Amino acid sequence: MKKLIVANWKMNPQSIAETKRIFSVVKKGIKNIKNVEVVICPPFTALSSIQYQVSSIKLGAQDCFWEEKGAFTGEISPLMLKNLGCEYVIVGHSERRKYLKETDEMINKKIKAAIIAKLKPILCIGETLEERKKGKTFKVLNEQLKRALNHLPTHLLNHLIIAYEPVWAIGTGQACDTLEAKKVILFLRKSLKKTPVLYGGSVNSKNAVSYVKDYNPPTTLPLAKGERAPAAFDGLLIGGASLKRKEFIKIAKAIST
Ligand code: PGA
Repeated sequence: MKKLIVANWKMNPQSIAETKRIFSVVKKGIKNIKNVEVVICPPFTALSSIQYQVSSIKLGAQDCFWEEKGAFTGEISPLMLKNLGCEYVIVGHSERRKYLKETDEMINKKIKAAIIAKLKPILCIGETLEERKKGKTFKVLNEQLKRALNHLPTHLLNHLIIAYEPVWAIGTGQACDTLEAKKVILFLRKSLKKTPVLYGGSVNSKNAVSYVKDYNPPTTLPLAKGERAPAAFDGLLIGGASLKRKEFIKIAKAIST
C-alpha cells in the first residue's frame, strides 16, 4: 500500500505566484518517487491556480461546509471542492476546533457531506498536553472518534482517513515520541481496522521515517505478505515542513524507500 503524505499549507503562502513556485518545485522533486501519494492542501484561494497541474500530486482542501449550496455566507461546499479537482479534504483540524470553535457534531456533518460529494475526508483527532499528562489520551481520542463518526455506516470507514495529531505537537517542534505515537496507532487499529491512519505534528525529514516504518516493537502479529505493519502509520500530515520545498521532497523520498 502507498504511503500518503498530506501537505497542510494552512494560511500560506500569501501570493498565487509563490503558490505556483512551491507547487512546481515539489511536483518536479517527487516525479520519480514511488510508493508515496502526495496530497497538497493549499488555501481555498489557491486551488484554482494549480488545479490543472495535478497529476502525480493530488489536491485537497483544508476544510469544507456540510451543505451543498445555499445561503451560507463565507462557506465552501464539498461539491465546489470536488468540481475544482479536489480529492481530499481535511476536517476537524485542531486549529479550527480552537479558533473557530468547531465541535465534533459539526465535524460529523462535514465528514458525511464530504463523503457524499466523493471527497476523502482526513479527520484530525488529538489530545492536548493537559489531557495527555492526566493519562486521558485514549479516552479523548475515543470520544472524538465516536462523535465525529456518529451514525456513519461501517462500510464508509473505508472512505475516510484519520490523522492523529497531538495538539501539543503541532507547530511546536516537539514531535510525539515514536513509541508513544505507536501506542496510539495500535489503540486506533482496534476499532479502525482498515482505515488509514496518518501521524501529524512537527514532522520533518529527520523523524518522518520513524512513524511510517515498523522499526520498534511491538509488532505482535505475524504479517502476511503485503499486509501493513500494525505499529506503522500509513502516512503523514505535514504543516510547517510542507512549505519548505526541499525539506518536503526529502520527506517524500525518505518514506518511499
Ligand atoms: P506541523 O503542523 O507539521 O507544522 O506541526 C501539522 C498540522 O497542523 O497539520
